Order: sequence, then C-alpha cells, then structure tokens
Amino acid sequence: MTGTVYVNGDWLEESAATVSVFDRGFLFADAVYEVVAVLGGKLVDFDPHIARLNRSLAAISLTFPFERNDYLKLFRELVIRNGIDEGIAYIQISRGAAPRDFAFPPSARPTIVAFAAAKAISNSPTAETGITVVTRPDVRWRRCDIKTVGLLGASMTKQAAIDAGADDAWFVDAGGITEGTSSNAYIVTASRELVTRQLGNDILAGITREVVLAVAADQQLTVVERAFSTDEALAATEAFITSATTFVQPVVSIDGVTLGDGRPGSISLELRRRYLDRAHTSAL
Ligand code: PDD
Repeated sequence: MTGTVYVNGDWLEESAATVSVFDRGFLFADAVYEVVAVLGGKLVDFDPHIARLNRSLAAISLTFPFERNDYLKLFRELVIRNGIDEGIAYIQISRGAAPRDFAFPPSARPTIVAFAAAKAISNSPTAETGITVVTRPDVRWRRCDIKTVGLLGASMTKQAAIDAGADDAWFVDAGGITEGTSSNAYIVTASRELVTRQLGNDILAGITREVVLAVAADQQLTVVERAFSTDEALAATEAFITSATTFVQPVVSIDGVTLGDGRPGSISLELRRRYLDRAHTSAL
C-alpha cells in the first residue's frame, strides 16, 4: 500500500518521505508515539490518546508545540487523505536530528511523522476464535509506562511467541504477568473477578484498558487491579487482551493450557461488544 504520510508539516507520498539518518528516534529510540483506532472514518478515544502522548512527551522532557486541536486536525486529515474507513492512525514525535550524543541536544527541532493504515478491527477473525499466548520473561526496560518507540524487547518476544507456535506473548516479571507485547492482559477468576495488573512503571496505561475497566464496572463485574501470577492465569475461566488495534481480544490458551472450553469466554465477548458500541458512538 502506498499512502500519504505527514512529516514536519508536509504531506508526502510515502516513497518521497524522508527523515535524517541523525534523527534521535532512529539512533536512540528517543521518540514517543500513539496509535489511535479509526472506526467509520472517526477517531476512537482520541482525547485520552492525546493526553497520554502529552504525558509521554513530558516524561522524556520533550516539548512539542501542538495543542489538542492541532493533533485533531492532523489526524482527521490523515484519515481523509488515506481514505481510511477502519484502521489505525499513527503519530510519532522524536527529539529530532542532532550530532550523535547521549545527552539531549540543546537545540534540536523535534521530528513529527504520522501515517495511517487500513485494518479490520471490529470484525477481526481472531475475535471469534480467540488467540493463544505463551508467557515469557519481561525483558523490557523499566519505564514501560512511557510509550516510546524502543520496542525491540516487545518485538523479539512477539517473534519468539510466534516461533513457539503461539499468537502472542504475555510478559512475566517478579510480580507476575505484566502485560502483552503490545496490549494489556486480563484474567477472569472463578469468582468472576476481572483482574489486571495495577498501573505503574512496569506496564503501559492502555487507553482501551481505561475504557474497558469502566465498562466492566458498569456491568457489575468486580474489577481488581493487582499483580497476578502465571499459575493464576492458567486457572482462569477466561482471559483477554486489550489495545487500540485489537479492542477486546479473547485469549483461549496460555502456555498450551486451554482455558474453559477453548472458545472465547462470554464475559470477554460481552466486554468486546460493549466497548465497540461505545467506540462507535463516541468516536470523533
Ligand atoms: N500498543 N501495552 C503495550 C506494551 C502496548 O504497546 C499497547 C498498545 C497497550 C495498549 O494500549 P492502548 O489500549 O492504549 O492501545 C498496552 C499499540 C497498539 C502499538 O504499539 O501498536
């Protein structure tokens, strides 16, 4: 697919777009990003995504002059120029190009790039079958709360999961399961508690997570934000992941152990349905 991308104020054909070899996003992963889902040509959970982008920028002491409405205009134009009805819109801001030095350059101009891609999210085939995950050590850095482009640990672990015959991996640290390689992780216990890791430096505060937990509380589910172990996950009645690119995605097997009857759980599917309803009506 050849798309129209945005680079530092210009709209360009993908093949004509360039960024400096000395860009710190490229050399140091000194960049933060957001992925926003597009449904019916509209942006899902736009405001919380921008709020998190601002938190990520602040966390790496990067100042970027865009206000909320500048981002909204950019994302809307991105969706229109690329004719996206359903898919994702991606934005990345790096500290910019500067001679290679570990210290932050005092006067580099940040680089902003954005692109969009069509993707079936509301009708993804795996929403019906569920996905399989394997647990793997959490090899990432200790600031997983910042959405940076330093994604090699996640990428290597996703590939290791695929090589092991699974769809994805759940990371495990000393406290138990943290999250998926690009998603938050949840289990439903036999006593109908919905459990997911508490916020902290060891997971990303997912925007879909925030909304799904609110939807779950509305459904009289007991939501518990705490660490949970692999053993607890293997004994769960249901499990699922959430992210902007998957919404609620049921998990049907963990480390080769089948959950329930091996089909997506009813609570997971109901949360998916309710999240989708809400996303359709609230998208901007
Ligand atoms: N990733 N945890 C990690 C490590 C993630 O990379 C993501 C999202 C999430 C879920 O966050 P949200 O609900 O805000 O999408 C949790 C995006 C989709 C990505 O990198 O493509």
